[in-house]
Formats: sequence, structure tokens, C-alpha cells
Amino acid sequence: MCGIIGYIGQQPATPFLMQGLNRLEYRGYDSSGIAVRNGSLEIHKCIGKINDLESILPDSIEGTTGIAHTRWATHGGVTDANAHPHCSENGKIALVHNGIIENARSLRTRLEKEGIHLKSETDSEALVHLIDRELSNGAKPLTAVRRTLKKARGTWGLCVVFEDHDMIICARNGSPLVIGIGDGENWIASDTLPLQSYTQQVILLDDGDLAVVTSDGIQTSRFDGRSTDSTVTTLEDDWGEADIGDFPHFMLKEIHEQPEALRQCISGRLVLKDGNSRLGGLGISPKKLQKIPHVRLLGCGTSLHACQVGRIAIEHLARVPALAHVSSEFRHNNPVIETNALHFAVSQSGETADTLAAVKEIQLKGGDVRGVINVVGSTIARQCGHGCYIHSGPEQAVASTKAFTNMVAALSMFAIQIGRARNLSQVRGKELVRAFKKIPEKIEHYLKNQGPIQEAVDCIKDAKSVLFLGRGVSAPVAREGALKLMEIAYIPCLAYPAGEMKHGPIALLEEGSPVVVIAPNDSLKEKTISSIHECRARGAKIILIHEEGDSIAEEADISIPVPSTESILSPMLTVVPLQLIAYETALQLGCDVDRPRNLAKSVTVE
Ligand code: G6P
Repeated sequence: MCGIIGYIGQQPATPFLMQGLNRLEYRGYDSSGIAVRNGSLEIHKCIGKINDLESILPDSIEGTTGIAHTRWATHGGVTDANAHPHCSENGKIALVHNGIIENARSLRTRLEKEGIHLKSETDSEALVHLIDRELSNGAKPLTAVRRTLKKARGTWGLCVVFEDHDMIICARNGSPLVIGIGDGENWIASDTLPLQSYTQQVILLDDGDLAVVTSDGIQTSRFDGRSTDSTVTTLEDDWGEADIGDFPHFMLKEIHEQPEALRQCISGRLVLKDGNSRLGGLGISPKKLQKIPHVRLLGCGTSLHACQVGRIAIEHLARVPALAHVSSEFRHNNPVIETNALHFAVSQSGETADTLAAVKEIQLKGGDVRGVINVVGSTIARQCGHGCYIHSGPEQAVASTKAFTNMVAALSMFAIQIGRARNLSQVRGKELVRAFKKIPEKIEHYLKNQGPIQEAVDCIKDAKSVLFLGRGVSAPVAREGALKLMEIAYIPCLAYPAGEMKHGPIALLEEGSPVVVIAPNDSLKEKTISSIHECRARGAKIILIHEEGDSIAEEADISIPVPSTESILSPMLTVVPLQLIAYETALQLGCDVDRPRNLAKSVTVE
């Protein structure tokens, strides 16, 4: 969703801002803009892509202080006027804002009554006029921002620049902001990705923090005026390249990065001699693992599907009841929280508002939550305190791929760990660990021999809808395949546990209807074959993901083999062809693969 980048230093700000905006594109946006302090404040903004903004910029903008924004519309349509930055009537203050001001309507009405002409329909614009009013009443910039925020209700990550003061004031409440520290220059951004090529030293603002950032200083304080000592964090070197390299799309790059991402995730965590795995960051002793009455996993979108796979692995290997929950539903159902139970918040970005809200609800009721997160230092990771980073490297395509594989890996490792602390034998643990360690090379092998993906694409690209079926651990994989295709190729997709197909979706089937079936060689395979027969009897075309060498291939119209592995680990392999089918279909239909319409990478509103 919305993104922020700011620069203050000795060099021209605009190149930093534009580069930052490009780096923020992955979050999803529909308009963008910049404000640079160049004598007066120079503001340019428009709907469309960053290229569109670039095309309306003058050849050079001199200033060395500026802020910029990518907007994903919430309050008010996609228009130039609604794009950020917003500025005061006298043009002397400009503001960019992520989050939602819940009492914007009453703030706007009051401002209008005072004769202020609001130029946009946004909630954010009200703030800049309130800051202006405070400044006109004699307040200093920081006090003006603080007093304004005291009148606001909602969430914000915001930056303000002033014609008359060479500083950027930023504030965080619910929407992340990171300050990147340089030598005689500083940056501010809504996530660490745009900062990583400039500095590894950052300050992660907390909710309720404000900061006055100048070229040679950063002063942080709390909402109530207390000054704070800010902790400087050194960003870890990400193993992955944030640049697209030779790939045409981030999604394809990220699909191909899965073997390496998985190696990063499991490295040092799988212990063959003990037949165990070790997720040290969870901070849970074997004694505690033994006593956990149940595990609940929370996520959205792809992360939810990883939770659903993890749930099955935990029950299967540890014989501990486990449940996966849709984060957005969780807290609204007044959940009963068992304080001895373990909860996992699973999120690539670590910023998803629904998952964060669920974490807070669990904590408020005394529950124990661990994060399974990709982005280091993200809000959910910090809110949970303990957890497990999945080390996928930067994931920038909106459609998540390598994060799914690594979330499944992390949760499967946890399943082994809790299993070993309970009844899983060392012999069985060793078999699993041995198989686990081979998965990266098996994904590599599959990526070199992808099977008839194009045939599958030809079969589904003009379909009215596509049905995805799987059983057991493959049921959530089917959901993930359906989500991928729907997200980026805009084809209505339905995913069902194969056995449930006859209770409804079978009504959709007619001659030529594409049905994608995920059927690894597990104990449920025979039953899945029955579902395949039921589909074929109605004229459906079966695209079958199965294990290499398995005679089930004969049941398929289009057979896509993947290397075989322990069936509980199979989702890390069977999902890959589904990702490729979605990618190639979207490409063939001329869709914007990396930035599908209406979707955002990091969904920071509930
Ligand atoms: C958005 C993205 C999905 C993602 C979901 C959860 O909807 O478009 O790709 O799976 O958010 O994101 P998270 O960062 O919490 O994993």
C-alpha cells in the first residue's frame, strides 16, 4: 500500500526520492508525488506510474530536502488532487501520510467552516491545514505537528516539510517509518527496502514516536513530549538482490529464487543427527513444547495458506491440535485465548494490519504469539518479540511465491521440533530432516524440467473459471494455486478439498472445464483419483500435479510431474508449477504480472 520516502542532506533530493519511489512500487499504488524544498516548496504529483510522475518533472529540481509518496486510494478516488503530498493554503507546508485518519470527516468540516478550501477528498489533507494553523498561532514546527496529531484519531506514518525550516518532521502511529542514518544526510522511508543501498544504520520508530530529522541530526520524542533515546539498528545484509536482474518480472525472479531462499531458511536449523530442527528465535523450551495444549496460526492471503499447511504438519507430526485462522476475522469473533497455547502470526511483510490486530488481541488476553515473518524489524515481528524469520530475501511481486515456500518450511520445521519434544521418534525425525534438506535441489530440478506448463495455460486462459482440487496437505496448496491465478490473471478460481467437490463445485463442470488437481503420492491419492474420475465423467480437462514416475499420470489430460518427497513436505514442491501456470497465464493474457490491479503487497489497513 502507500509508501513514503524522504531525504535531507547536501545532495539534490529528487534523485533519491525518485529512486525511492521506484523501490516502493512493489507495495502497490495508483498515484505518486514529490515535494522538494527549493526556495519555496515545489510539488509535483499525478495518477499513474512513477514514469508518469517522472515525465511531468522539470529537468532539474535543486533542493536538498524533500519527501515523496506512492498512494493506494482509500479515502477519495484516484485523482491528481488526491495524490500526496498535500500542502497548506499558503504552500509553505507539505505532508505525506500513510494510514487512515478516522475522524477526518469532522476535522475537514471544521476546517471548511473556518474558510479553508480543501483541495482533495483525502483524510490526510486535513492534517496539513491543522499544522499550518498551529504554526500561524506561533507554535514551533514539532509542537505544531504534535498538537495536530493530538486532534487526530487513527493511524499514521507521516512526514512534513516546511518552506521556512530545513527539517523533516515525521511521526508514527500504526504505520511504519524507518529513519536511515547517513553522514551529513538522512533518509526516511516506510520500509527498509528503499534505504538499503544508502545505509545499513536505521532507527525503527515506534508507535507514538515523532522525530525531527535534519541533515546532521535526528531527535526523537514521544507523543506526550518526552524525549527518547532512539536505538540504532544495523540492517542485516539481505541475501537476495532487490533488483530485477535479467528476469522480465519480479514474480519469475522470485519463483526461481525459491531453492536459494529455502536454503537460507533451513540453514543451521535442521539437525540430522538428532532428527530434529531448531528454531532458536522462538525461545520455547522442549519442556514448554511438551505442555502446549494447542497451536493456532494466523495469516492473510498466501500466508493463510501457509498456516493451513503448517496446521496439518503440526497435527500430523506432533499430534497437537492446531487451527489456522483468517486474521481479519479473528479478533472480531471475541476469540477464547488459552494462555498456555501457542499462536503464530505468519506474514511476509510483517505489516499486514489484520494480522497485527489479531496479535494485539491475543496479547491483550494474555496469549503467547510468535512471528513467522520475512521482513526483519517489521511491526509484527517487533510486536511479537520472539519468532522465526523466514529469510526469503526481498519479495517484490504482489503475488507471493518464495515467501510461501519458506513459511511452509518454517512451520514444517516447527512441526518437527514440537513433534520431537513429544512423540516423534528420532528415526522418523531423521527421515524427515534428510528429505527436507534435499528439497532445494528438487525445486531446482523441477525448474529445469517444468513440464507442459504452456499446455496447461492454453487449457485455462479462456476458461470462465478454473477449479483447483487437493486433499490433506494439498488442499491448501490448491487454494494457493487458485489465489495466484485469480490475483494476477483475473480468472475466477475456486479451490476445494477434492472430496468436497461433489457437494457443489461439480455443478460448474462441463465439456472442457479445466480442473487442476494436486495429487502427491500420499495415502489420500486413491481417493483423489475418484474425484478425478468424477470430473472427467463430466467432460472436465484434468491438469494434474503429481510425483515423477507415479502411474497416476495416466489419469491426466495434462500431466505435470514434480520430484517426489515425504508427502508432508510436498507443498514446497507441488506449489511451484501452480505459480508458473499463474505467471504464464497472466503473461499470455497481457496482465501486469508484478502489479495486478487493485491489489497491494503490504496491506496496512484493516
Ligand atoms: C496481500 C498480498 C498477498 C499477501 C497478503 C498477506 O493481500 O497481496 O500476496 O499474501 O497480503 O501479506 P503478508 O505480508 O501478511 O504475508
